[in-house]
Amino acid sequence: MASFLGLAVVAAGALGAAPPAPGPAEAVAAAPTSAVIEVRPGAPTYSPDVVVLAGGGTLTLVNRDTFDHTVTSVATDAQGTPLFDMRVPAGTVATVTGVSGLAAGSYPFFCRFHPRMRGELVVEGGAGPVTPEPVSFDQPLVVPDRVRGARVTLAMRQARVRMLPTGPRTRMWTYGGSYPGPTIVRPGGRETSVRFVHRLPRKAGAMTVHLHGDHHASEHDGQPTTQLVRPGQSRTYEYPLTYGGLPEPSSFFFYHDHRMDRTARNNWRGLQGMFVVEDEDERRLRLRLPSGRRDVPLMVSDRSFRADNSLTNPFAGGIRMVGHDGAMAWVGPKAPPDDATVGTHVLVNGRYAPYLPVSATRYRLRLLNASHFSAYSFGFSDGRPLVQVGTGNGLLPRPVVRDRVLLGPAQRADVVVDFHGATGRNLVLDSVPAPLGESGDDARQAVVMQFRVGAEERDTSRVPAQLPSPDLVRAPARVSKRWTFDLGGAHPDAGHGGGHGAGHGGGGNRPRGTFWSVNGHAFDPTRVDHRPRLGTTERWRLRNTSDMTHYVHIHAEQWRTVRRNGKPPPPWERGLEDTWRLEPGEVVDVAARFEDYTGPFMIHCHMLDHEDHGMMARFDVVR
Ligand code: C2O
Ligand code: CU
Repeated sequence: MASFLGLAVVAAGALGAAPPAPGPAEAVAAAPTSAVIEVRPGAPTYSPDVVVLAGGGTLTLVNRDTFDHTVTSVATDAQGTPLFDMRVPAGTVATVTGVSGLAAGSYPFFCRFHPRMRGELVVEGGAGPVTPEPVSFDQPLVVPDRVRGARVTLAMRQARVRMLPTGPRTRMWTYGGSYPGPTIVRPGGRETSVRFVHRLPRKAGAMTVHLHGDHHASEHDGQPTTQLVRPGQSRTYEYPLTYGGLPEPSSFFFYHDHRMDRTARNNWRGLQGMFVVEDEDERRLRLRLPSGRRDVPLMVSDRSFRADNSLTNPFAGGIRMVGHDGAMAWVGPKAPPDDATVGTHVLVNGRYAPYLPVSATRYRLRLLNASHFSAYSFGFSDGRPLVQVGTGNGLLPRPVVRDRVLLGPAQRADVVVDFHGATGRNLVLDSVPAPLGESGDDARQAVVMQFRVGAEERDTSRVPAQLPSPDLVRAPARVSKRWTFDLGGAHPDAGHGGGHGAGHGGGGNRPRGTFWSVNGHAFDPTRVDHRPRLGTTERWRLRNTSDMTHYVHIHAEQWRTVRRNGKPPPPWERGLEDTWRLEPGEVVDVAARFEDYTGPFMIHCHMLDHEDHGMMARFDVVR
């Protein structure tokens, strides 16, 4: 099984002044027995992007860029592992393992860290033994246990979880023994307390749990460095599920670890679970959205596995913290911006490529992207629309019919899918990137899960034309606070990132460390960057000045999107939100009223390695 993050770099060598011996890729006529693809600095594309190779030949990637790249085949083997998947560090050359065994055929590939990079390998003649296997959907979807009590206790403990269809189970760090943890389902406005007991190994260190999207007191927010749950101890988090005294609307939250510098690792190991707030209004107004077993929460994440089905450890080595101008920064091969955690296998509710038997009726699917880095553009193989009714923080004012729903890390969508007329068919939920140059072109290409559509059944559900959407605050005209997201520190080659301080990497071999930054700083839990006043409404401006897309999450309040790049937001961004996609150069204005609680809260990128490597800041709500 291919090792994650390409620790199996074969024949890798640093790119010195002398370029590697060119392969005979330029040769015409018969397919060459070796071919070279190049990635040039500042132009993250494969060149050429179509390579022809004789069966048994070798493919070499010359990475002249300042980012790491992978060459990853879309096609997989029977276990779901890409047929080739090579990580090539910045400034190195590597032979892509797995290519010479391929049977004749065409093999599209992409970069796992930069899915806009796409290419195609054509293998001619020869007849290697390796052929792609279609994804076979061998295991049923597991819907995590629903827990409905006002007082919930969950042990954080190790457990062996069935993730891949064959072979041993996978040892995870879990909430309550499953991955994802149990789905907590509670009516809005009903006080809920969740006690987390730390029974993980001591070396896991202290934990902290954040209920993402919810509005609650600062001391129950899962602070990254305070109010921790220490090994052997427990902590009870109080969630009133109210907002300004009123019940929270119909919401789809998730709870996950939020420990400073360890969030990516702790989530990767399994500390993630879903939380549904049910809206009494939906019943009272007889909204009749699909419910019961036709209301299915789907947590999508990705992981890589070793041959024994254990999780790989993408966080081992490759990165070291250094002081940088009085703050912290990272050096090493996985320092920003090469700190992307992307698993080879896409999982739904913890299982690879599951299937769900459904009746030919309407279903409410609550989609959560709980991945560390990857974005998915969800859609159905037959073009069946997804009718988006909510955001994760409440319903939209009216349903929005969508062919694809793009969700980055921590983003959610509440959608209704109608399976009428599909009896006897197997429909695939997949993720397909948009054509290059369009928004969503960086989504991951993946098969996600299968719906096996059975007979029609009585279905009294419907999707009303108007929905009881939560009221939005009046957005102030004046911007109270600007937050800029960028790459900081001295990148070994200052050509990328363009961020604060990126200019002093000109010395070439003097990597002084890089960090992801908010307003030029790496996260410092003792620094307070803003002090909004309780009871006031503020408008904040989020700006991404880096070269890559980020997903900015704000704690504490529920926010409306006021403007996206100076224009009204798209119809699916007109409800309440807590996490926004910001492509390079994008500017998003958001507004919220500071209600109920004072104290420290976080704003950060929800790509978990970015969060761990500096892209987080603290604001304190004050009286
Ligand atoms: Cu879901 Cu501050 O995180
Ligand atoms: Cu980010």
